[in-house]
Amino acid sequence: MTAYKLGKIAQSLVHAGKGILAADESSPTIKKRFDRINVPSSEENRRSYREMLFTTQGLEEFVSGVILFDETLRQIAQDGTPFPKVLTNKGIIPGIKVDKGAKALAGFHSEKVTEGLDGLRDRLIEYRELGAQFAKWRAVITIGEGIPTRACIDANAHALARYAALCQEAELVPIVEPEVLMDGKHDIERCEDVTTLTLRRVFAELHEQNVILEAMLLKPNMVISGKTCPRQASVDEVAEATVRCMRRTVPASVPGLVFLSGGQSPEQATENLNRMNVIGQHPWELSFSYGRALQEPAIAAWQGKASNAALVQKALYHRAKCNGAARYGNYTKEME
Ligand code: 13P
Repeated sequence: MTAYKLGKIAQSLVHAGKGILAADESSPTIKKRFDRINVPSSEENRRSYREMLFTTQGLEEFVSGVILFDETLRQIAQDGTPFPKVLTNKGIIPGIKVDKGAKALAGFHSEKVTEGLDGLRDRLIEYRELGAQFAKWRAVITIGEGIPTRACIDANAHALARYAALCQEAELVPIVEPEVLMDGKHDIERCEDVTTLTLRRVFAELHEQNVILEAMLLKPNMVISGKTCPRQASVDEVAEATVRCMRRTVPASVPGLVFLSGGQSPEQATENLNRMNVIGQHPWELSFSYGRALQEPAIAAWQGKASNAALVQKALYHRAKCNGAARYGNYTKEME
């Protein structure tokens, strides 16, 4: 496949009015989500919950792609259809989380580096055979006293670039996710500084590793106040700071930015995305790749009961529709 074809997949993922559903929670993460509703994280519960999400009628109106976890990519729907096929039958592009998680960075206190490069080339070939067309790798940058260090940012940026190059070799579109966490009491200015430095280093490494920018997507955090900062920045401030930061760091050749929600409430994540699109024109599409902000109301509606399937699907459809509107800057609170 040529870079041109990979670029076309990247463009389809950021098609007007659509974004990505991140349903790639690792086993420990999905357990945390299920614990909150007292549902055991068995393989069958994970399968049946995700089947409800993927078979939501009309999801494809607002969702271009779904990111899956290794286990989910191999699972099948009740009628025997493999999940990747369930999605492609609806015109939704299947993707796969390929990193092995953020682990303690040796020699540093409370900083992390994402692992998973060893053996990645062979895993990518298998994922492609199983039907994945794009991939995701998440790096985690924490803000705190004296952190992040340049060493942590550089180690993560290098790994992201090595991953992205391997994806393009394997004919998968890489989603490059350097997440600056919302945790902490830092203000929005500090988030902007750290996000700017991180993205500069990430794009320098992508360049070093010959990654084709037209054939990738960036999954950034929004520039936002720390969760426990006494002064929470307004929607206008978040939108302006995020767009300014991205304009300073992300080349126009990248087709799209698919923001993570990172712990924002579902409504907040929609409102912030909407405002950024209101203040457009931008060189890239500004879209979403939300996990919690799309799924939180759906999981709450489920409560582990198959009889709640219609409520789960209604909740997911509603959030997808609101975010679809936010892609055009057409979201209003009345939609809620
Ligand atoms: P959140 O939107 O819940 O941050 O998840 C997105 C994601 O895929 C993180 O890797």
